[in-house]
Amino acid sequence: MPLLSVENISSGYGKNNVLQGVSFHVDEGEIVALIGPNGAGKSTALKTVFGFLRNSAGKIYFDGKDITLKKPHEIVRLGMSFVHQGRQVFRNMTVEENLVLGAFIDRKSEKIKEQIYSMFPILKKKRNAVASTLSGGQQQQLAIGRALMLSPKLLLLDEPSLGLDPKTVRLVFDKIESIRKAGTTLLLVEQNARMALEISDRAYVFETGQIKLEGAGTQLLKTKSVQRLYLGG
Ligand SMILES: Nc1ncnc2c1ncn2[C@@H]1O[C@H](COP(=O)(O)OP(=O)(O)O)[C@@H](O)[C@H]1O
Ligand SMILES: [Mg+2]
Repeated sequence: MPLLSVENISSGYGKNNVLQGVSFHVDEGEIVALIGPNGAGKSTALKTVFGFLRNSAGKIYFDGKDITLKKPHEIVRLGMSFVHQGRQVFRNMTVEENLVLGAFIDRKSEKIKEQIYSMFPILKKKRNAVASTLSGGQQQQLAIGRALMLSPKLLLLDEPSLGLDPKTVRLVFDKIESIRKAGTTLLLVEQNARMALEISDRAYVFETGQIKLEGAGTQLLKTKSVQRLYLGG
């Protein structure tokens, strides 16, 4: 059974129905990417999975449970975390305060925090710095680190590379691979299709609210239509 299974969902904003019969799944241990042009519905898909938007049709299963009607705070408890587009951090708080606020109050979070510091050494170095003083790449690492404080089974990442310079993009993608190695499954939305396909086991290509193509990341990299549309080739 997949860790996450999205079955034939329709979802959108009021009368504006964006997703039309979208199905995809994520197996435990995978990195799966959703790619496609701006406005295709990738973020809408993540928001629907996480319960911020209620789908008008279809079913969503996570870790063996039907989460179709569940709310975000319930879904978090089941082991899913979400890093939103635009790396939201508490700008006036320190790095460490941001991490601690990401944790469940009823959990022993000290150990997890140290694990996150060893995965993101820059956060450890800047643990007492106010978040607003961090660079974009450092803030992205903090947003990801905060989401990891919940020790999620599945991490949803929306556009982690947005607005970062190429070297920092590489660093963030390396971190994504380390997170998977450490045992967290990832569902990633990216406009940087090439990088996303390079690190993904599988990917789905969205276009105007539907999935047009799916396959192994390495295979989609070689697909002519993907190259032409998204890889500038
Ligand atoms: N909060 C919102 N209210 C109404 N329409 C929205 C909202 N957010 C996104 N949309 C619309 O939904 C469509 C898909 O958007 P989105 O899922 O953000 O695309 P992507 O993440 O692939 O760029 C777009 O047409 C967008 O204008
Ligand atoms: Mg988006």
